[in-house]
Amino acid sequence: HIINLILSGGIGSRLWPISRKTQPKQYLPIFEGETLFQKTAKRNQAYCDQVLVVGNKDNYQLSRKDLEKAGITEYQEIIEACPRNTAAAIAFAAFAVEAEDILFVTPSDHLIESGTAYDKAVKRAIQLAKEGYIVTFGLKATRPETGFGYIEAEGEEVKSFREKPNQDTAEEFIKKGNFYWNSGMFCFQAGLFLEELKAFEPEVYLRSKEAFEKRDKGFLKEDLSAKIPSISVDYAVMEQSNKIKVVPSDFKWSDMGSFEQIFTYFKKQGKTVDKNGNMVLGTDIHTEFVGIRNSLIVMTPDALLVLKRSKSQEVKKVYERLEKEN
Ligand code: GDD
Ligand code: MG
Repeated sequence: HIINLILSGGIGSRLWPISRKTQPKQYLPIFEGETLFQKTAKRNQAYCDQVLVVGNKDNYQLSRKDLEKAGITEYQEIIEACPRNTAAAIAFAAFAVEAEDILFVTPSDHLIESGTAYDKAVKRAIQLAKEGYIVTFGLKATRPETGFGYIEAEGEEVKSFREKPNQDTAEEFIKKGNFYWNSGMFCFQAGLFLEELKAFEPEVYLRSKEAFEKRDKGFLKEDLSAKIPSISVDYAVMEQSNKIKVVPSDFKWSDMGSFEQIFTYFKKQGKTVDKNGNMVLGTDIHTEFVGIRNSLIVMTPDALLVLKRSKSQEVKKVYERLEKEN
């Protein structure tokens, strides 16, 4: 089988207040009336014969609704009691399927244009996965973003994988030129993934296995889950394995992580942006900006955010402070 593993664990804290624990960004129906989750599920149906969602107890009902909207009626789900990051989330899925099954792992919160470039990349990735590789998708790195993983490559050969480098290192990578951003999607045989995880992070492997085996229907138990080390698949496997390949890709891709990216998206759509780089989100109320540039107003029934666009990354801090206060 080829299985689309949809990961849905993030909160999207840099998009507060429209994104919340109870309504994370992948479930916001703001992309031509669809959600990112829904688009993800639809986009990948062409390549997969099964769907498996790993989400959590706060969002699995939202996932179910989106799957229904995407016309998917049959799927498996694994519901986490608490988030233990992507190494564990993928491990649960790998334990749930056959060793030779191929997992096509996709985040649920990216905006991707399906078209020939995407089609070519996914088909090549599946082929490489069948040949026994752990496949990443590389998008040409064009600016020194520190929130991404970087893949140093020559063709499909990976020389190194480096997750979230610091600013200086990221700048060095851009200068060198042969670096791709890791898209966050992966493709591999479930059994191979587990072998690699077991070799590099045995504690994650063992604890995830135990939590998975003692699940109740699809639900994982809190006490066993809490014992799993929280580490992302990028550090746990991608940085360490020598079975990694990359499919150099050039499909349109945005991880929609911050308001700056949301702004760029709506600007391209020709929506709600004035000529001074301002934008209003969450309300249709007539708004005027006087003497203010490159700013954003985000309105929800119980919270209002006024933001200089260049400070988009800092919204996360607001979210974290509010979490602590509540
Ligand atoms: N089920 C589950 N449980 N899903 C999770 C968990 C978890 O504990 N943690 C994260 N996820 C989901 C998120 O919802 C998202 O869809 C995906 O896994 C990736 O997690 P992020 O937290 O968004 O990762 P990131 O953006 O910091 O980094 C990853 O993506 C970048 C591209 O956007 C890495 O793979 C980077 O290398 C990559 O460049
Ligand atoms: Mg992300």
